[in-house]
Amino acid sequence: MKNIVKHSFEITNNERSQLKGHRSLMIWFTGLSGSGKSTIANALEIALFKRNIHTYILDGDNVRGGLNKNLTFAPDDRTENIRRIAEVGKLMIDAGLVVLSAFVSPYLKDREEVRKTVGDHNFIEVYINTPIEECEKRDVKGLYAKARNGEIKDFTGISAPYEAPVNPEIELNTKELTIEESVDKILDIIEQKLAL
Ligand code: ADX
Repeated sequence: MKNIVKHSFEITNNERSQLKGHRSLMIWFTGLSGSGKSTIANALEIALFKRNIHTYILDGDNVRGGLNKNLTFAPDDRTENIRRIAEVGKLMIDAGLVVLSAFVSPYLKDREEVRKTVGDHNFIEVYINTPIEECEKRDVKGLYAKARNGEIKDFTGISAPYEAPVNPEIELNTKELTIEESVDKILDIIEQKLAL
């Protein structure tokens, strides 16, 4: 960028990881609203916390109340939402954290950009594959009802697209797995990646 000269600081990501006792990572949950992303992220964070792993959760419903409160659910804004999270996540990874991100993130292209931004070796895509009928039946936040009666436009799965991952590192069918089983499945896969 013009007139910007990057400064190199002396403490590296590797040294921060040594101090923390584990590597950093981004675990990216994608799936429909109400699919269980935040629930599983929460349970996973508790399991990691108990193992002395340093974590942080970035969650759509929360981040959209602050950093991203100027963004709508129009396609370009969703892309910008995810781009910012990728950049924030990249900083958190550099800081030595295991970042758990729970965003609908409906576009394949946007998720691939996150992978590029944080680095393939740092990125674990977790597809929370809950059928729309099930999400709508649960309708925890009452948003599907509003989307059906037209109160909410461009609602993912009803009036806006969701592009499912083609080759995610992990796919969880929440109709078949308990929360504990889902967490165990993720822990199995990330354990090696967290080791120094
Ligand atoms: S994303 O598409 O830009 O990745 P994000 O994860 O930040 O979405 O926010 C999704 C959450 O916002 C949903 O869980 C839901 O609670 C709420 N929401 C409100 N309007 C919409 C909409 N039109 N489409 C999807 N989710 C919506």
